[in-house]
Amino acid sequence: MRRYVTYLFTLFVIGCTTQGEMNVPVTTETAAYLEPHRLQFHFSPPEMWMNDPNGMVYHHGEYHLFYQYYPDSTVWGPMHWGHAISKDLVHWEHLPIALYPDSMGYIFSGSAVVDHQNTSGLGNPDEPAIIAIYTYHDPEGHPASRRDFQTQAIAFSTDKGRTWTKYKGNPVLPNPGIQDYRDPKVIWHQETERWIMALAVKDHIRFYSSPNLTDWKEESRFGETTGAHGGVWECPDLFPLDGRWVLLVSLNPGGPNGGSATQYFVGDFDGKTFTAQDNSTRWLDYGRDNYAGVTWAGIPERDGRRIFMGWMSNWDYGQKVPTTPWRSAMTVPRVLNILPTPAGDVVTSVPARELAQLRGEPVQFIITKDGAIKTASGGIYNLEMEISNGGNEMESFELHLTNAENDTLLVGYDAVNKQLYIDRDKAGKTDFSDNFTGRQTAPFNPGRKMISLSLLVDTGSLELFVNQGELVMTSLFFTDNPLSHVTFHSSGPKLMVYGRWFKLSAIWDNYVGM
Ligand code: FRU
Repeated sequence: MRRYVTYLFTLFVIGCTTQGEMNVPVTTETAAYLEPHRLQFHFSPPEMWMNDPNGMVYHHGEYHLFYQYYPDSTVWGPMHWGHAISKDLVHWEHLPIALYPDSMGYIFSGSAVVDHQNTSGLGNPDEPAIIAIYTYHDPEGHPASRRDFQTQAIAFSTDKGRTWTKYKGNPVLPNPGIQDYRDPKVIWHQETERWIMALAVKDHIRFYSSPNLTDWKEESRFGETTGAHGGVWECPDLFPLDGRWVLLVSLNPGGPNGGSATQYFVGDFDGKTFTAQDNSTRWLDYGRDNYAGVTWAGIPERDGRRIFMGWMSNWDYGQKVPTTPWRSAMTVPRVLNILPTPAGDVVTSVPARELAQLRGEPVQFIITKDGAIKTASGGIYNLEMEISNGGNEMESFELHLTNAENDTLLVGYDAVNKQLYIDRDKAGKTDFSDNFTGRQTAPFNPGRKMISLSLLVDTGSLELFVNQGELVMTSLFFTDNPLSHVTFHSSGPKLMVYGRWFKLSAIWDNYVGM
């Protein structure tokens, strides 16, 4: 079923406001989301290149997802903001491109907020403006040996994000002569009643404040001597969570398993300065494929969740993965919380509850020795397991996710090295990049305690949530057929596994083109 491709050819016109005036006709070929390796319950663009999620904001019952997009190729190029909306965080409707590059540059990553009090004056009495805050990247700067080619700018929409006007006074934050100066994430700081921007500046974060989103003043800097510094800092996010403040910082390269990854700091933010609880490096996700993720703005207080989504790829090989006519997908939406531990506060991530609507009836199982869990049809599923060793020290175990071709994805616990791991070396295509193989590991020591695992398995991705999201690993794989067969192997005769297996349904069933 997944081997043939259906295309719908759609001709449509995008009505877009660039500096308030342009209408650009675009021809788009859209796919029916059944191509090889097309993920079935993750967001991906119909075609062409996507990287970071941008401008995530909830407004009038719609979750907006903008994203770094190059509509002319399946590799990175002049960046636009692609756009999709969802009413439930699970099913997505594609909308026309929101922001096009212009004479000031490409449209790099950034955020969006709803300006309820019209502090910017860009809204109107009937409708508050959604303000997008993004980086302009002037492609002529680098070749000309300039360093000031990334600046911060805004655009606004008063029609629920359907059309956008770039602000006439851009840039709102000029460049002070620093080459890496980008990815503004703006929040409303309730206590001081002003906007705060977290900006990635080469190897640290700068915080700026503004009364109106157009005039910005530097408040403080964080991170030059804290955290991981194996690469450039990008895509920050700052938010309150469970009585603390969290700062997310992506960096590339320098991740725990190579290439791109996202670290975080828990601490306090007093409206000016961020102070971290300690100097440790903590990773939001140890897998290779969760980068540049940030959280939604505007989630109503009665909901109160902090909802995260990341780009499910890695700059090490993202532009080479064997998919066509599109490249890249996002992680599932995840809810973040703080877990206090003796070693300090940890940020946990679990799939948003809305995903449960995709579940079929649970199939329960118990395994007391090596065994097969379930032969699934369809191959997209959620497997939940509690693994214990009768109160003894946890022993090594391994899950094999396989198909009829014997492609095998390994997920395991190594009791000698006290590590969890994912190994995709024998799980389908790997030769498109020298950087794709190699075991992905995460330090983990359950001691005598039970381990709970939740695996979200799509046709080409695994998201592993351990102990209610205390540890997370996300990894892509490229098999021709889904890994619908799972077996459990253990060295310890007493390991007990209680589990539930849920078949998941696809989110694109009703997809009929843009
Ligand atoms: C992160 C990133 C951002 C930048 C964007 C460009 O993946 O490098 O720092 O704004 O991608 O597409």
